[in-house]
Amino acid sequence: MKKGITATHRPQWKTHIGFLLAAIGSAIGLGNIWRFPYLCYKNGGGAFLIPYFLALVIVGIPFMILEIGLGHKMRGSAPASCAGVSSRWEWLGWWQVIFVMFGIVLYYSVIVAWCFYYLLLSFGLKWGADPNAFFFNDFLMISESPFEVGNIRLPILFSLAVVWFLNWFIVFRGVEKGLEKANKLFMPLLLFLILVLVGWSISLPGSSEGIGVYLKPDFERLKDIGVWIDAVSQIFFTLSLGFGILVAYASYLPKKSQIVKDSVTISVANCFFSLLAGVAVFSIVGYMAHELSVPVDKVVSKSIGLAFVVFPTAIGMLPAFSQLFGVLFFGCLVIAGLSSSVSILEAFTSSAIDKFHYSRKTLVSVLAVAGFFGSTIFASQGGLFWLDIVDHFLTQYGLVLAGILECILIGWIYKAHVLRKHINSVSQLRLLSWWDYAVKIVIPATLVVILVNGFIKEVASPYEGYPWLAIVLIGRDWVILTLFLAMIVAARPWKDYQE
Ligand code: ALA
Repeated sequence: MKKGITATHRPQWKTHIGFLLAAIGSAIGLGNIWRFPYLCYKNGGGAFLIPYFLALVIVGIPFMILEIGLGHKMRGSAPASCAGVSSRWEWLGWWQVIFVMFGIVLYYSVIVAWCFYYLLLSFGLKWGADPNAFFFNDFLMISESPFEVGNIRLPILFSLAVVWFLNWFIVFRGVEKGLEKANKLFMPLLLFLILVLVGWSISLPGSSEGIGVYLKPDFERLKDIGVWIDAVSQIFFTLSLGFGILVAYASYLPKKSQIVKDSVTISVANCFFSLLAGVAVFSIVGYMAHELSVPVDKVVSKSIGLAFVVFPTAIGMLPAFSQLFGVLFFGCLVIAGLSSSVSILEAFTSSAIDKFHYSRKTLVSVLAVAGFFGSTIFASQGGLFWLDIVDHFLTQYGLVLAGILECILIGWIYKAHVLRKHINSVSQLRLLSWWDYAVKIVIPATLVVILVNGFIKEVASPYEGYPWLAIVLIGRDWVILTLFLAMIVAARPWKDYQE
C-alpha cells in the first residue's frame, strides 16, 4: 500500500444505510429514466429483460463486488487501490477518475441543467405548443455542426451554475455531512416521486397500450448481437461501473462490511427503479398516442427527444394538474442526475486527497469552478453534438477499456481468489469460486466483444454520420488526452502524512 493512505485519515460513512443510499444514488441516474425504457422498447420489449438480467447477474453484480471489494481491501480511491496492487498500474485508476471528472460529469451536468431549466418551465408549461421547435430552436439554438460552436446559451449557463453549486455544496461538506445526508434525503424523495408518477400515469387512458408496447416480448430480436451488447453496456453505465466511484465509496466502509449482500442490494434497487421509470414513461407515451389517435410507436423517441420533446408534449395534453406533473418528472431527473454527478466529483476528490493530501474544501471548490467552466462547451449552440460525440467515445471506449483492464489487474495480477478471500473474511454471504472465473474470463471477454464490435461499426461508418474530423478531434482525442493526463499524474510522487 502506498505511503500516506492510512485508515486513520479516512472519513467513514456514519451509517450502513447511508453508504447504501449513496451507492444507489450514484447508480440511479439519467440513464435509468430515459435510456433504459427506450432500450427496452427498441430491443424486443419484455424479451430485452432476458439479456438485461443475464448481464446484471453475469457482469454487473460480479463487477460491483470487485470494485467494492477492492476499495474496501485497499482503503483507497481508484488510483490508490490500483497502486496498492501494483505501482505500475496506478495510471489506470487515474484514467478512470480523470475521464469521468474531465469528461462524463462535464456533459452530464449540462443535461441535469437542462432538466433543471425544464423544471422551472413546467410552471406555466413555457415550452408552448411545439416542444420540438422550442427545444432545438429556442432553448438550444442548435447550430448546424459540431464545428459551429456558436454562443453559450444563457439559460443553460444559469442552470449549470445552479447544478455546479449543488455539486460543490454536497461534496464540499464531506462524506458524512455531504454525500450521506444528501442521499438520505434524495433517495426516499426520488422513490416517492417516481411512485406518484407511476400511479398517476397508469391511471391515464391509453396507458395500458403504452405499457404493452414497452413490455411485449419480441423474442426474434434476441438473435441480434446488438441487443446483447446494449444490455451489457446499459448495465455497466447504470451501475456506475468502471467510474472509480464504488471503489472510493467502499473505502469509507468499516472493517466488517457486507460486500456481497450490498452489491446485490444496490444492483437490484437500481434495476427495479429502471423498471418503474419505464412504466411511468410508457404509460404517458401511451396516453399521448391515445389522445392523438396514433399507434404508440409513432410517438416514441430516444433519450433526449423522449425527455425534452415527447414528455413536454404529453404533459401539455393532461386534463388537470399538468404543471405539477412536469415538476414531478423533471424533479425526478434533477435528483437522479445530481446524486450521480456528486458521486463522480467525489471519485476524483477522494483520489487527489489520497495522493496529494489537498484540503477537501479547497480542492472541491477548485474542481467545481473548473467543472463549471469545462461544462460550458456543452452549453454552447454546438454543445449537443459535442455531448453526443464525447459521451459515445468515453462510454463506448473509455469505460469498457477501463473495465477490461480492471479485470486483468484484479483477476490475473492481484489474483481474483486473493480478493475473494478478503471479501469472505469480512462478509457473511460467501463468494464462491465461480466469481474468480467471472472476473478473469467472462467479464473481460464480454467487454472485449463490445469493444471490438463497436470499433468495427465505427470504422464502417462514422458514429451518427458525424464528419470524421469531428469524431477524431472531439471523440478520440478526448479519450487520448485523459489517458495522457492520467500517466502524468500517476508519475508524480505520493505525499506522506506528517504524523
Ligand atoms: N449510473 C448513472 C446513470 O445511470 C451514471 O445515469
